[in-house]
Amino acid sequence: MALEQRVASERVTDARARYVAHGAATPELVVAEADGQIVGFLAYRTDWFQCTFVTLVVVREDYRRKGIAREFYKSVEAVSPTPRLYSSTEETNAVSIQMHRALGFQPSGHIDNLPQGVRELLFYKRIPPRSLG
Ligand SMILES: CC(C)(COP(=O)(O)OP(=O)(O)OC[C@H]1O[C@@H](n2cnc3c(N)ncnc32)[C@H](O)[C@@H]1OP(=O)(O)O)[C@@H](O)C(=O)NCCC(=O)NCCS
Repeated sequence: MALEQRVASERVTDARARYVAHGAATPELVVAEADGQIVGFLAYRTDWFQCTFVTLVVVREDYRRKGIAREFYKSVEAVSPTPRLYSSTEETNAVSIQMHRALGFQPSGHIDNLPQGVRELLFYKRIPPRSLG
C-alpha cells in the first residue's frame, strides 16, 4: 500500500515536472536590437484558450514612437497559428490603450481582482488571412 502510494505520488510529480517544463518553454519572444543592445521585446504565447496572447511588450524609452511595437505585433501576426490575437493592458495605461486602437485591436472585456490593483483591459484582433503569394 505504502509503495503504491509512493509510485502514484511520483507519477504526479513527473507529470507536474513535464507540465512546468512545457509551460516554461511556451512563451515566445520577439526582440528588437540596436547597436548590439536589446531595445525592446514582446512576449506572447499560443496556448491561451487556443488563441495567441501577447503577455508583455516593452520598448526602451529612447526608442519609442519609432514603430517598433507596431513591427512586433506584425511579426506575431505573421507566425500566429490562429487568427485570434489577444493582448491586454492596465486600464491606467493610456499610451498602451491608444497603441492597441492604432494597431487595429478592439476592446474585448476585462479582468478584475488581479494583484496589480487595477483592471486589466483585454483587446482582440482578427488576423486577416495570409496571402499565398
Ligand atoms: C506601449 C509601447 C510598447 C509602445 O511602443 P512604441 O514602439 O513606442 O510604439 P509604436 O511606435 O510602434 O507606436 C504604434 C502606435 O501606438 C500609438 N502610440 C505609441 N506611443 C504613443 C504615445 N506616447 N502617445 C500616443 N500614442 C502612442 C500611436 O498610434 C502609434 O502609431 P503612430 O506613431 O503611427 O501614431 C511603449 O510605449 C512602452 O514600452 N511603454 C511601456 C511599457 C508598456 O506600457 N507596455 C504595454 C503594456 S504591456
